[in-house]
Amino acid sequence: MARIPEQTIDRIREAADVLDVVSDYVQMKRKGRNYFGLCPFHQEKSPSFSVNQDRQIFHCFGCSRGGNVFSFIMEIERVDFVEAVKRLGEKTGIEVELSGAVDPKRKALVQQIMDLYERATSIFAKTLAGQEGSSARSYLHDRGFTDDTIELFRIGYVPDRWDHLLKLAGTKDFSNEALNQSGLFMAGQKGPYDRFRGRIMFPIANASGRTVAMAGRVFGTDDAAKYMNSPESPIYHKGEVLYGLSHARQAIREKEQTIIVEGYLDLIQLHQAGITHVVAVSGTALTERHARELRKLTPNVFLAYDGDAAGIQAAVRAGYTLLQGGLDPRIVALPGDTDPDDWVKQAGPSPFLAAVQGGSPLLDFQRKHFSGDLRQTGDMRRFLDEALRGLAPIADPLVKELHLKRLAELTGVSEAHLHRSIEALPKIAPRQSETGPDELKVILVEPTRSHKAQMTLIRLAFQDHIEVLNLLVDEVTPELFTHAALKRIWELLGPTLADATIPEVGQVMTRLPDQAHQQLLSGMVMAGDESGDLLSLAIDCLTALYRDSLQSRIEERRLDLRAAEQGAGVPSQDILKEVAALRQSLTELSHQFDKYRA
Ligand code: CTP
Ligand code: MN
Repeated sequence: MARIPEQTIDRIREAADVLDVVSDYVQMKRKGRNYFGLCPFHQEKSPSFSVNQDRQIFHCFGCSRGGNVFSFIMEIERVDFVEAVKRLGEKTGIEVELSGAVDPKRKALVQQIMDLYERATSIFAKTLAGQEGSSARSYLHDRGFTDDTIELFRIGYVPDRWDHLLKLAGTKDFSNEALNQSGLFMAGQKGPYDRFRGRIMFPIANASGRTVAMAGRVFGTDDAAKYMNSPESPIYHKGEVLYGLSHARQAIREKEQTIIVEGYLDLIQLHQAGITHVVAVSGTALTERHARELRKLTPNVFLAYDGDAAGIQAAVRAGYTLLQGGLDPRIVALPGDTDPDDWVKQAGPSPFLAAVQGGSPLLDFQRKHFSGDLRQTGDMRRFLDEALRGLAPIADPLVKELHLKRLAELTGVSEAHLHRSIEALPKIAPRQSETGPDELKVILVEPTRSHKAQMTLIRLAFQDHIEVLNLLVDEVTPELFTHAALKRIWELLGPTLADATIPEVGQVMTRLPDQAHQQLLSGMVMAGDESGDLLSLAIDCLTALYRDSLQSRIEERRLDLRAAEQGAGVPSQDILKEVAALRQSLTELSHQFDKYRA
């Protein structure tokens, strides 16, 4: 992963004025303290897109997109953070150095996690080959996998114990951070224990064939969670990794085709049958980043998902992601309820390969498998809406045009109408982010009393008011923020405040984890400055949050008390004393912050 030094990011942010940058795309007019224009991210008639130059942020009151100069470029140019920094670097004439920025600590951590996964891979493989692995081996043999295949994909087994890997991995060679972040272990009260237990283990390799994650499959029992996967880690980003790629790359280059399947076992079965230009996604839907990885190999991709309704739907969705990512997808129809694994096992490779060659273009496939009746206006509307939303983000005008033409043929609706409809869609369809932007937006729209107080404290941190700042620095702790995103924001603000400086919104933005958080902050700050007696406001908020916190601690102690009465844990005397002390704090709360009043 490319990393840009923080100082460079800060220099570019300071040099690239947000109003200046936005004005390249939107005509902005001054209105009061802010500038307003027509939002480039959604369709509107009166301007609700605003820029605050003092704070170097933008915010749309209509669609609630917002952020700093980097987020603006990311959204409007649809590029990632690094690319946005580079473009603004060019605009401002500041050179962006990518290399030499690797933090040696981080490098060591990555190395250790890689080593851990290599050890785990060989330990699990050895266990599968040994006595304890016999039932797992029979399961795999029964499903038609040979020992050569098992070896090639380094399939393994972990017995149902808490410490199989823990004992064999030589954990003393690794830092606690590496053990924790690898995702191979769970943190227990008495130390770490194995995350994967009683499962057949599939190592997930990166493009160069090194294990970066594991998928563990149950067998012989009906566990609700058939697969358990490693969590994201410094070496594993599931939205990027293509399972099987290191074994497939050569064949993909030669055939100039990539087949994409849904399951690890589909891929392995195809490979064993001699069909080796295959990759699978691992435990996630196909992403934009997968598309980018695939595009490096060949634009010709064939989706061979399960033949059931869920498989068809997933294939259509993946098809649009690929199309938007500049690839040319075909969708392969599998008979009835089979998957590639079953089919190839039953019928050999030829029928499957023939089906791949006969794969349909996305719109044709979608039309053929559409559940409704296009003679009904409602169903037609639903079909067109799905298709147009999928086609709208395609950047290549020719590809878009050809698809609209085909859509007209398939539906009998005129091309002119389709053009008008696609233009009327919001410019950029809302994108899903991993932190759930909608969840974050809810607290802007319908904040609880406690969230309101938390947000007010954050807004006050940006005000130039010395008494308020003193109060915030001394008395506000991250624990008061019960909302995870607000807490995250406070954790970034806290240290700046302690240096007796008013934080810069734009700078805090850069350090937030994603656009959903940035939008939350811009929404909060742009809602306007607080007015009136700011110190009293701050004290009121703080008092309310302290009260909530004391009350919930008293509530927790009550539960402890119940446990103590049943003879477990701390003696009830101590708990009662603690409750009394908490109650006392509660009564004193109303005067606790009086000393800050002038
Ligand atoms: N998957 C997952 N977690 C689950 C189920 C599925 O992560 N609980 C992912 C895995 O990447 C899996 C893929 O979805 O490989 C396809 O699921 P499925 O077809 O059920 O799994 P197979 O690998 O084909 O396994 P099997 O044939 O034994 O069912
Ligand atoms: Mn399967």
